[in-house]
Amino acid sequence: MSDTDYMRHLQGRYEVHGRDFVDAGLVSSQIKKGLKSQGIHEDIIRRIAVIAFEAEVNIISYATHGVISYYLLPDSIIFEAIDEGQGIEDIELALQEGYSTADDSIREMGFGAGMGLANIKKSSDIFEITSELGKGTRVKSTIMLNGK
Ligand SMILES: Nc1ncnc2c1ncn2[C@@H]1O[C@H](COP(=O)(O)OP(=O)(O)OP(=O)(O)O)[C@@H](O)[C@H]1O
Ligand SMILES: [Mg+2]
Repeated sequence: MSDTDYMRHLQGRYEVHGRDFVDAGLVSSQIKKGLKSQGIHEDIIRRIAVIAFEAEVNIISYATHGVISYYLLPDSIIFEAIDEGQGIEDIELALQEGYSTADDSIREMGFGAGMGLANIKKSSDIFEITSELGKGTRVKSTIMLNGK
């Protein structure tokens, strides 16, 4: 199986715009709905919802524009968020609970606790993040269905 073979299992693809706090949560609720209609177990849906919401808010907070996609495979769900934006200088640091570069405008919206990426990682069975400074960031999470 090639590295990009999962892409033929695309279930949903959504555009996310930077600074669009009004729409924060829209994509994650669309994904939740989609998974529900596919009969996915509620435990799995809850984990994907956390991943999707945190990734969505991060794009809104820190990127110019992004695309969120999810893929429904026979034994797993793959979630992917790819954005164009400032990128992350130190990924190790960004993953630490409590680390945040959120400015006042982000904190006013109730975000910026520095927990998002850590929660995405915790909610994933396989978590991958790559980022290029000044270019953008890619988060990929795999959740195993384990018969659920
Ligand atoms: N898509 C992204 N593009 C650029 N920087 C990001 C991105 N996602 C996260 N970061 C950086 O990593 C830091 C940690 O992100 P994380 O989601 O863990 O916390 P937060 O967004 O600051 O707060 P919270 O998610 O708890 O509201 C952010 O403050 C930001 O500096
Ligand atoms: Mg965040």
